[in-house]
Amino acid sequence: MGFLNKLFGQTRKPEGILGKFMVFTMNSGHSKLADWGMTYLPGISPEQIVDLGCGGGRNAAELLKRYPGSHVTAVDYSDVSVAKSVAINQAMIKAGRCTVQQGDVSDLKLPKGSFDLATAFETIYFWPGLEICFSQVSAVLKPGGYFLICNESDGLDDTGQKFAKIIDGMKVYQVPEIESALKAAGFSEVKSNHHSSNPWITVLAKK
Ligand SMILES: C[S@@+](CC[C@H](N)C(=O)[O-])C[C@H]1O[C@@H](n2cnc3c(N)ncnc32)[C@H](O)[C@@H]1O
Repeated sequence: MGFLNKLFGQTRKPEGILGKFMVFTMNSGHSKLADWGMTYLPGISPEQIVDLGCGGGRNAAELLKRYPGSHVTAVDYSDVSVAKSVAINQAMIKAGRCTVQQGDVSDLKLPKGSFDLATAFETIYFWPGLEICFSQVSAVLKPGGYFLICNESDGLDDTGQKFAKIIDGMKVYQVPEIESALKAAGFSEVKSNHHSSNPWITVLAKK
């Protein structure tokens, strides 16, 4: 496997020194996309938020800023991502507003029916089956809770498809596939948006 494949493979599960470099890069590299995605969050004041596949924790920090009354639980199965998320959210963890947990989205160890909002930025490409993981998300949301997905690939762009070929275990999805997996997992209202000039998408679903 070439160096570039090894490096980009770190996006799936950051590990070791390359993984540390990757989470650092993702925190800055995904910020514009995530901030655009957050403009599609519903007009709610969530108290309990969970950021799934949190990577380096930058988006958890941004959610804490946007929702001053909230507590954010950041979840990732990579110990490198967990360590970086803890490091960058240190002050909020001390203040009791943030918890970082190592865990797999396909088997969430979180209290059922307890979150107002779940978010997933640039991560569902790696989840082991959308429907099974979306059911896990639905289970931890309160009735009426929201789930925001934000991807930089709409599943049709050349770059997304190129990455899916070189990164083991990565799959890019088109909006209808995401929408139907959400509905199959029990979500009701599902709304999608496409960026005006980039292949970026958001899908917002209500439990
Ligand atoms: C490309 S990074 C995106 C990180 C962050 N959300 C961002 O926007 O910068 C994907 C992250 O999802 C995590 N991830 C992938 N599959 C996961 C799963 N099944 N459970 C938990 N985390 C997962 C990876 O470890 C990685 O940190």
